[in-house]
Amino acid sequence: MPHRRVGGINGHVLFTAVAIGVILSLPAVAAADQGADLFRAKCIACHGPRGEGTAVGPALKGDPFVVKGATDEIKKVIMSGRTDSEKKYPAIMNSMPNGLASESEAEALVRYLKGDLQK
Ligand code: HEC
Repeated sequence: MPHRRVGGINGHVLFTAVAIGVILSLPAVAAADQGADLFRAKCIACHGPRGEGTAVGPALKGDPFVVKGATDEIKKVIMSGRTDSEKKYPAIMNSMPNGLASESEAEALVRYLKGDLQK
């Protein structure tokens, strides 16, 4: 009888461990998808569906600032935009708008820009 009881406890512990493992792995998957979804929703109008650039936004695929730049610098551009004297692309008349993403969204976007978008 005590033997069975121990078996029952182990089964429960195993189930709990598996459940926690599943729950812990979800945010990472969600964050990766979130970056792609956010890009589709908020960025492709100017940067193109594959980040190839358009008349109103520079290419982000193969862009050294995106590929090699510091995450914080890229996040800053995504959250605060880049206008007027800060502008780096004079041939593109408009600016990178301010306030397109929250900090956590910018984080997910940078992961996407540096990761899947460059493939
Ligand atoms: C209204 C058009 C527009 C939208 C929408 C837009 N961008 Fe931009 N973005 C620009 C322009 C224009 C620039 C270049 C500004 C300049 O001259 O430096 C730029 C620059 C950037 C840069 C810097 C590129 C470099 O080489 O310095 C990044 C990174 C970027 N955008 C990411 C994003 C992301 C991520 C989104 C979606 C959340 C987004 N942009 C949405 C127009 C846009």
